[in-house]
Amino acid sequence: MASNRTFQAPKGTRDFYPPRMAIRRHIESAWHGASVDSGFEEIEGPMFESLELYTVKSGPEIVSQLFSFRRDGGDDDYAMRPEFTPTLARMAAAKGKSLSIPTKWYAIPAHFRAERPQRGRLREHNQWNVDLIGTTGASADIEVISTALLGLERLGLTPDDVKVRLSHRTSVANILGALGVGEEQLGPAFQLLDRRDKMDDAEFRSRAAELGLDQDGVSRFDAAARSTASMSAPLSDLADGLGVPIAALEDLSMLREGIDAAGLADWCVFDIGIVRGLAYYTGMVFEIFETSGVERAVAGGGRYDRLIELFGGPSLPACGFGMGDVVLELVLAEKGLLGDDDGEAFMPRPDVFAVSTCEEADPFVEGLLVSLRRSGLHARRSYKSTRNVGKLLSDAGKCGSRTALILDQGAAEGVVSLKDLEGGDQVTLPVDELADTIHQLVRKRDQACDS
Ligand code: HAM
Repeated sequence: MASNRTFQAPKGTRDFYPPRMAIRRHIESAWHGASVDSGFEEIEGPMFESLELYTVKSGPEIVSQLFSFRRDGGDDDYAMRPEFTPTLARMAAAKGKSLSIPTKWYAIPAHFRAERPQRGRLREHNQWNVDLIGTTGASADIEVISTALLGLERLGLTPDDVKVRLSHRTSVANILGALGVGEEQLGPAFQLLDRRDKMDDAEFRSRAAELGLDQDGVSRFDAAARSTASMSAPLSDLADGLGVPIAALEDLSMLREGIDAAGLADWCVFDIGIVRGLAYYTGMVFEIFETSGVERAVAGGGRYDRLIELFGGPSLPACGFGMGDVVLELVLAEKGLLGDDDGEAFMPRPDVFAVSTCEEADPFVEGLLVSLRRSGLHARRSYKSTRNVGKLLSDAGKCGSRTALILDQGAAEGVVSLKDLEGGDQVTLPVDELADTIHQLVRKRDQACDS
């Protein structure tokens, strides 16, 4: 039955029309390149998993944040994946002892979270995951961070634009211990620290008091949550400010050495307020923010040394991060790194655009396109019925084609014209020289652009 109902994309999801898709591919290509160049190999897993994969670590409370379902007539509960780390840990556990050490995996999957859609937060987003399994120590942590930064750098961002806010759960536990937070209260204290920015002073103070801290302890906890230090400042200044011995910050000190050695100090700051909300982190933790701090985190990650074992695998340490495309796209746009034409600049440009200026030439268009495409050229054609060469060439220009192939009566004799749309020259040539000529022209232009 005919229906004139209209439909919209579900709340918190995005439609990617071609220019938007071109931006997405531009971002993903930087992610792929940075991963591969850093020695990571691509993997993928299912878009939905058993619900239990998520509840086993986070408890039943997590269900309200998931899109979960049971098949009509089925007995099993599933959830669309809200993050990739449980899938990755499950996949690593399934390989057991056969997993080579270290294993370096990356993935760029879609994720689904049942949150209230808002700026930087959607119900579906794509996230670059990079994980290094089987090694411990600051140098593995730094390799993961440097891969995230390589991806951002390739998109045009600099240390003036983004900062890695870095901490270490062991050092934070030492600081909390010195404030009087007991071992059993560390979990709730981490959660409170993670949510500090999201609550007002009164709420923070009352929750901190519930951890057993006195008024002075609460004030020092609040100050710790806001403590940051540049990589160039002596760590003893941070320790003095927090009222802890320098030995309490040993893990930060090792991270700092690694960051200096990797030449990444400009990109990083210590931030004691970063502990990460996810329960599985065990050591180094970080988030990457745009420097003005207006946007939400571009990326977050850290070390999780017990998760693979929890999923029945060998006891394997691991460290990684996830970087979402939603916030990153906002940051790149704010910094003017996505152009001012809504993605048109990222659309693939044809090498050649074929136009037929008379009926006798029409039958030759498709065959020529097939052979040009076989030779590796991006070749398009006009579908317009007009024979007005000016209009046809303006279409070729509009889609950014490098050259225009003009077919007229000569096509029947195997002779065509090729116009260089960037230089303006036009030549007449036999069709069997066409592909080579276009390849040479395109190469020449690319070299001129590169030099
Ligand atoms: P996460 O901090 O939950 O970490 O997410 C990582 C990044 O994904 C965030 O910084 C943000 O850019 C993006 N993101 C998260 N949720 C949304 C959303 N609803 N809408 C848009 N973007 C979002 C994880 O997921 C960890 N599993 C990362 C990881 C990998 N840790 C170790 N390996």
